[in-house]
Amino acid sequence: AFITLRQLLDDAAEHGYGVPAFNINNMEQLLAIMAAADRTGAPVIIQASRGARAYANDIMLRRMVEAAVEMYPHIPLCLHLDHGDTPATCLSAIQGGFTSVMMDGSLEADGKTPASYDYNVAVTARVAELSHAVGVSVEGELGCLGSLETGHGEKEDGHGAEGRLAREQLLTDPDQARDFVARTGVDALAVAIGTSHGAYKFTRAPTGDILAMDVIRAIHERLPGTHLVMHGSSSVPQELQDIFNQFGGAMPQTWGVPVGEIQAGIRYGVRKINIDTDCRIAMVGQFRKVAAQKRGEFDPRAFLKPAMAALTALCAQRFEEFNTAGQA
Ligand code: G3H
Ligand code: 13P
Ligand code: NA
Ligand code: ZN
Repeated sequence: AFITLRQLLDDAAEHGYGVPAFNINNMEQLLAIMAAADRTGAPVIIQASRGARAYANDIMLRRMVEAAVEMYPHIPLCLHLDHGDTPATCLSAIQGGFTSVMMDGSLEADGKTPASYDYNVAVTARVAELSHAVGVSVEGELGCLGSLETGHGEKEDGHGAEGRLAREQLLTDPDQARDFVARTGVDALAVAIGTSHGAYKFTRAPTGDILAMDVIRAIHERLPGTHLVMHGSSSVPQELQDIFNQFGGAMPQTWGVPVGEIQAGIRYGVRKINIDTDCRIAMVGQFRKVAAQKRGEFDPRAFLKPAMAALTALCAQRFEEFNTAGQA
């Protein structure tokens, strides 16, 4: 059945587990994630970005997710908008059947200019007011996603050439987080704690202190009723990089967020863990393998079936690791 993010993460907080939020763009990704949820008995967060909505069309996304709910009536499912950039984007998602939206007010509507704190508060509060009126949950974001290793924020922070941002400039400020939630009323808050989007997070194997656990704890202490969200949470497993590269891929060696660090985050209040990159590498690694090993193959299903199996295995593993398994 459909469930809002608030309902799902309240349950996760009560029982101390985390919920991976997997991005989808197509039927195969959705079917693979649902197979993993069914196999492990896990509730799911299916999220779609603006790019996914443009790729698949809102009507198609909605009908596919409705079909998933009909196929797996015992699996609670939240359909979440990932990185909504304006109130209009969030409202059109709600019209399209999403039960949860993210208003990412870290950049202005041009998608380039770093937004002021007041702008972020204003747009996020507006989305929260309208969404809550129709029973939809809201995720906000505060801070600058970026790697503690490089000291660079992901978004144009104006410091690119001059060098590293100080730790405090990169990470979410706990007192500001309290003020932000008080003024916006968000259900969940994406925090900057040293993660970044994409495959290239760290240039060497991260040591234990690569995420700012102290910051997570400080935010959780001030906001016990707000669910914390970790973006950029792909682990970029070595074995997935190896398959990709073994069959003609050229992905430079890279490291993601160790699962143990995510598990520590869950102990300190992280409830939603965003994962897209791992899913992409898992699927496309299998495309490469089939393309290399069966050079006469032209049935798309011969590519998509192993890709779905690899994605299902990855998702099932994360459901187990985050203790989502058995919580449906
Ligand atoms: O954070 C972004 C997600 O990985 C979605 O990526 O905008 O390419 O669909 P996308
Ligand atoms: P990854 O790139 O680490 O998978 O992060 C995805 C994400 O944060 C989507 O919002
Ligand atoms: Na999101
Ligand atoms: Zn993200």
